[in-house]
Amino acid sequence: MPRRILITGNWKMHGLRSDLGFFEALTPIAAKAGAEVLVCPPASLLAAAAAQCAGTEIRIGGQDCHTGQSGAHTGDVSAMMLRDAGASHVILGHSERRQEHGETSILVCAKAKAARVAGLIPIICVGETLTEREAGRAHEIVGAQLKASLPADAGAGVVIAYEPVWAIGTGLTAAAEDVASMHAFIRSQLREPAATRILYGGSVKPENAAELLALEDVDGALVGGASLQIDSFAAIVVAAKQ
Ligand code: 13P
Repeated sequence: MPRRILITGNWKMHGLRSDLGFFEALTPIAAKAGAEVLVCPPASLLAAAAAQCAGTEIRIGGQDCHTGQSGAHTGDVSAMMLRDAGASHVILGHSERRQEHGETSILVCAKAKAARVAGLIPIICVGETLTEREAGRAHEIVGAQLKASLPADAGAGVVIAYEPVWAIGTGLTAAAEDVASMHAFIRSQLREPAATRILYGGSVKPENAAELLALEDVDGALVGGASLQIDSFAAIVVAAKQ
């Protein structure tokens, strides 16, 4: 089975109910797209976005989940709650959560297990910092993150997102040859390499999407800033190869 391109928007901590018109505008674009289209709004909009996208080709995902199903965890959301609200996927181990919330790969792995139990597809993020890349340690760092973040039995039911930390929100994109080399390395580390999708994230925009998505081991994009505007997100969806 060929790997279908997956274009994912990560809204991070952006979006109010007044922004829900985005999904109406995206519906006809997703219907015609050669790629799968997923948007991960903040938890506060998830149920409304999912209701609006029911019956369309747009999938809705969460941005994080707890390891447990329920319990005394003020402020947290479980994978089952995301599923109940209409999510099909959940982003886990994003570098902003690793950095701002001290999330370790071991915690990310536990979250991924909880997500799979709840019937969600985890999108597990990995990526090196600029210091690590400059020290020639990018592959080593990403390899270690992958090993510890992926449940041992995880096959094609998980999605990997390679997001070099220094490329996130900076306008800097990794060079095509570095993306190609890292994605090939990541694929070599997977249990079901041929069937597992590996997304690239970090300043993906309409201007660079086609080049990145044309790389052999790039199976989609995880888009931050450019997913907030319908015009730029739609252009990235359209750029996805069939
Ligand atoms: P930007 O596209 O804003 O660089 O963000 C990338 C990202 O972190 C997606 O998860």
